[in-house]
Amino acid sequence: MNKRTFYLTTPIYYVNDAPHIGHSYTTIAADVLARYKRAKDLDVFFLTGTDEHGQKIQKAAQACNKTPMEFVTDVVDKFKTLWNNLDISNDDFIRTTEERHCSRVKKIFQQIFENGDIYLGEYEGWYCIPCESFWIESQLEERKCPECKRPVEKVKEKNYFFRLAKYQKSLLDYYEKHPHFIQPEPRKNELLHRIKTQIEDISISRSAVEWGIQVPMDPTHTIYVWIDALLNYITALGYEDDMKKFQKYWPANVHIIGKEILWFHGVIWPAILMSLKIDLPFKVFAHGWWTIEGQKISKSLGNAIDPTSIIQSYGADAYRYFLLREVPFGLDGNFSHSALIHRINSDLGNDLGNLLHRTLTMIEKYFDGVIPEIADTDDELKRLSKSTCDKVDDEMEELQFSKALENIWEFIGHANKFIEDKKPWLLAKTSITRTQLAAVIGSLARAIKDISVFIYPFMPGTAVEIQRQMGILEDNCSLSLEFQQGFKKDTVVHKGKPLFPKIDPLVLKNV
Ligand code: MSP
Repeated sequence: MNKRTFYLTTPIYYVNDAPHIGHSYTTIAADVLARYKRAKDLDVFFLTGTDEHGQKIQKAAQACNKTPMEFVTDVVDKFKTLWNNLDISNDDFIRTTEERHCSRVKKIFQQIFENGDIYLGEYEGWYCIPCESFWIESQLEERKCPECKRPVEKVKEKNYFFRLAKYQKSLLDYYEKHPHFIQPEPRKNELLHRIKTQIEDISISRSAVEWGIQVPMDPTHTIYVWIDALLNYITALGYEDDMKKFQKYWPANVHIIGKEILWFHGVIWPAILMSLKIDLPFKVFAHGWWTIEGQKISKSLGNAIDPTSIIQSYGADAYRYFLLREVPFGLDGNFSHSALIHRINSDLGNDLGNLLHRTLTMIEKYFDGVIPEIADTDDELKRLSKSTCDKVDDEMEELQFSKALENIWEFIGHANKFIEDKKPWLLAKTSITRTQLAAVIGSLARAIKDISVFIYPFMPGTAVEIQRQMGILEDNCSLSLEFQQGFKKDTVVHKGKPLFPKIDPLVLKNV
């Protein structure tokens, strides 16, 4: 039987600069969801990539005396290396400078033109290069870009336009019929208001920008970088060339994006799809923004957190955990080194690391390192594990990663309390309570195995390490994702170093 499919995407990132915490946040969230869905046996296609054309990149390359292509290739490597270091499990990586993308974009542009939705006009207004966005005078805030608050430049050029306004009613109808299309809810309301009051045809070509894909019917223009970029979600599936993948995975189950690009994904993209007569994605989820130690990430402040240095200091899993645990997905959050260290010491070291270490120590001490067998009956921890699993499923459906983690940690808390309550050290004092001791330790071992399955999407490396120390990976190199399974007879544990050794908060002084 064919498996159910699940197609999810991140935005494709501009390569004018090295990746920072914000980019890593979206990609980690998407990776967690992809791993979770794969573990649920869905056929997942997880796409990320880079947005390489446009004026911003053209300018950045000029500033370094490089050709745009030389420039972008260097930065793309940084993104790929980071995704590798963060254990990102994307199935494809699309670059908008690739031939497969460029040729398909031209065909699609031509189709929209033939459908009567593109016309030549004259654009006069303002342009924000960092956001690659057109603005009209009334949208500016103190003559600056309303999105990033940076200076805008005046643009007057002959451009091709897309008939966005024509789709106003269809968009509003679609929103009404699909109330969960845009998430979280408050962002949808902002968008609805803007569709009702500010929708206009949009310019979709630039005659002044060379670094882009040529408009097929007019080589003196390049396609507006946002149209080029949005189309990646279908060009990567082979749209209009080899339709097999497209037919299999489209519509996307979710586009995960940051809140600042919701207009493009929630309005322009659906309208383009409507023009192409393609089904719309099921969901667009706009997450919030990170500030750093209370301040907006900005080049001039030089405060962009380099994820690589964090990974080097604390490991990829601690970073992944922190970003998804600290802030409810959808809200803004603040990154601080002290909060990160606090989470590592308390949640990861104290709660999770200690649970594993104590349990393995008892298995070594009381059972010569062999996990005691237990009957496959329900016990307190097994029941709690099952209810945790149900809660985590519900939260993951809603992309509520922090709540899913809260539930998992509640279960870890129960497992630690179970040790305190059952007092295995007392049960070990006499042979009369040997069976009870075995039941307690066996039950704990099974709970820890379940915990490794729960945390796997969030912290894949730690899940592997737990199963290695539990002796599960010995003859079978791949991780076991089966939930509430017992252990093979005579499984011998391999207690290793504590999972997350305590970090002295004084290291902060050296950061
Ligand atoms: N190239 C466009 C997207 C085209 S998608 C068809 C773009 N690129 S970007 O490099 O600016 O990356 C934008 C994404 O990075 C945001 O949507 C968000 O996912 C992430 N973030 C960038 N800065 C961020 C924060 N400070 N905090 C959280 N995420 C942010 O826009």
